[in-house]
Amino acid sequence: MSELIAQSAAMREAVRLASRVAETDANVLVTGESGAGKDALALFIHRQSRRARQSFVKIDCAALPNELLEAELFGYERGAFTGATQAKPGRLEAAHRGTLVLDEIAHLSTDAQAKLLRVIERREFERLGGRRTVRVDARLVALTNVDLDDAVRRRAFRPDLFFRLNVVRIHVPPLRERHEDVAQLARQFSKAYAVKHGRAARQLSRAALALLESYEWPGNVRELAHVLERAVIVCEDERIEVSDLPEAVRTAAALQSRRARRPTLAELEAEYIAETLAAMRGNKSAAARALGISRKNLYEKIARYGLEV
Ligand SMILES: Nc1ncnc2c1ncn2[C@@H]1O[C@H](COP(=O)(O)OP(=O)(O)O)[C@@H](O)[C@H]1O
Ligand SMILES: [Mg+2]
Repeated sequence: MSELIAQSAAMREAVRLASRVAETDANVLVTGESGAGKDALALFIHRQSRRARQSFVKIDCAALPNELLEAELFGYERGAFTGATQAKPGRLEAAHRGTLVLDEIAHLSTDAQAKLLRVIERREFERLGGRRTVRVDARLVALTNVDLDDAVRRRAFRPDLFFRLNVVRIHVPPLRERHEDVAQLARQFSKAYAVKHGRAARQLSRAALALLESYEWPGNVRELAHVLERAVIVCEDERIEVSDLPEAVRTAAALQSRRARRPTLAELEAEYIAETLAAMRGNKSAAARALGISRKNLYEKIARYGLEV
């Protein structure tokens, strides 16, 4: 993997905590919006830990229906269910001595939650349909983009398991709260994608960077990566320009910067009158009626705001 970028104070704090906890075997709960970098931080923790040379295993609790998820996580013995023609170890066993990442932990069924709690407390479990107790030593990193405290309050998540996972909680802030990271991330992505696609684009124009920095990034770092991959592909020379960025990013960024300053009442009034006049195709009597003012008053405002119709 490429380097974990942490230029902003918020991200530096997350990385600092991650490095501290990496030295221990403590379970970690990583929270943050989708695309913010939870997986990236989990891998960072693994690589900084004593377990770095052992396996790094991931399971996405949201991707599979309950029974399949349990089979995947705990493994099964032959004949455990229809179709189980052969025994198969689960991800937990695969993560022995290493790190197991439980993505979207809130989706874990009540049943699986109970089994996982036992894994944490006793370091043991049985495969589905199995009698033999398997001992396992895996460091758990749970990821969530929903409020797990709230899931506990709603009784959708076991409080005892929550406390066991929540020994150290690290929040990865959304990208819109750390614009200081955009430039370095953009540089790293443009270089990586230039190599991947055999393109020359390696730099960003000042204007393109300013635009990326002013955008809100609802899809966080993942969205930024996609935007740069596209830019590298469509870019004609070595420098990515504003025109290489998607229309949606360009218009949203323009709107945001206009909204950054609150308009005055007069500006809003002028804009609204202009809109109404346009809607009435320049018919001033109709516009005055729609606006609830006299024709005379409308003429005064048109003159004051310099609205030529
Ligand atoms: N701080 C960072 N530095 C470098 N790359 C990052 C960083 N945060 C996220 N990424 C990259 O952005 C993409 C999305 O991040 P990911 O960890 O999958 O997000 P999440 O798990 O929160 O949905 C991945 O390709 C990841 O490598
Ligand atoms: Mg993820």
